Amino acid sequence: MSMLFSPYTVRSVTLRNRIVVSPMCQYSAGGDGIATDWHFVHYGTRAVGGAGLVLLEATAVEPRGRISTEDLGLYHERQLPALQRIVRFVHEQGAACGIQLAHAGRKAFSPKKGQGPQEPVGPSPIPFDEGWRVPLELDEAGLQAVAAAFEQAARWAHEVGFDVIEIHAAHGYLLHEFLSPVANHRSDRWGGPLEARLAFPLDVVRRVRAAWPEAKPLFARLSTTDYLPGGFDPDQAVEVARALGQAGVDLIDCSSGGIAPVRPPDYPGYQLKPAERIRREAGVPTSALGLITAPEMAEEVLQNGRADVVLLGRELLRHPYWPLDAARALGAEAPWPRQYLRAKRAGDR
Ligand code: FNR
Repeated sequence: MSMLFSPYTVRSVTLRNRIVVSPMCQYSAGGDGIATDWHFVHYGTRAVGGAGLVLLEATAVEPRGRISTEDLGLYHERQLPALQRIVRFVHEQGAACGIQLAHAGRKAFSPKKGQGPQEPVGPSPIPFDEGWRVPLELDEAGLQAVAAAFEQAARWAHEVGFDVIEIHAAHGYLLHEFLSPVANHRSDRWGGPLEARLAFPLDVVRRVRAAWPEAKPLFARLSTTDYLPGGFDPDQAVEVARALGQAGVDLIDCSSGGIAPVRPPDYPGYQLKPAERIRREAGVPTSALGLITAPEMAEEVLQNGRADVVLLGRELLRHPYWPLDAARALGAEAPWPRQYLRAKRAGDR
């Protein structure tokens, strides 16, 4: 029996299968971070295509935490109705719907995306790379404001009707910047040893967990390695995952890189080893993510206990109906929408 097409229950949410749409910025928001028809069609199509969970892209919890002026935001009530429309439709297709809450930190408004109106912030006044702005070092009041923004966004996410929140602590954005010795050079209680570097992300997770209903799952995305000597690495990721698990995180979404301009490897499953380790050593469920395109590979990682769900990014941009084809390949029952049933069997007229 296919595991990819077996339901996955976490807290009170049951996914119809273990295929998750990986969060992917669309840079298509209208004025002030409001979702547009592009988002409605894009996410709606992937729900029609049979995914178990549609995770919306990195959504800024405050304006200075955006990557660009076209990012989705969840920092104002005006942003709720367009998101509600998406969630309602995704639910009607039988999929769960989640949102990735993010703060871009020192990578806000990259030189490529255009300078934003706000000054970027970070743990330390160290720019990401040449040509990038030097971030303002967050003080205590600034840190509290960011944590409060995550908390408020979580409340609104519940009001919108999302089933899952994923906290973005990867890819060199603010929470990863705190975790990584590459970007965090602080000597106060938020920097130095791992325990201190972890303190702010943990604070955010605890506040979100408290503001988000007990019955709803909370995920966190980590970059399990910086691919740099002296950087964040899988040993630290195991420790962080354990602490996040104890704070109520239900699944660690295992990504990598992004703290510095270093290219990650590019073979299928390049992020799987840490996912498997975290699952085993920290005892927290994990995702398989990274260049997974073959149904058989998605099935393998689950059957061999290497991860609990499979996230697909670019493959689901190319093929939003990938889950329907994957079910056929694995001999499983596919979640075909009733409107398309006449196309279910190849060869039918
Ligand atoms: C991404 N990725 C990404 N990751 C994330 O955590 N939040 C985001 O908003 C985005 N945005 C984004 C946009 C686009 C266009 C792409 C292609 C990727 C990374 C993505 O979720 C995924 O981790 C990687 O693409 C690796 O998975 P695949 O594509 O190899 O399946």
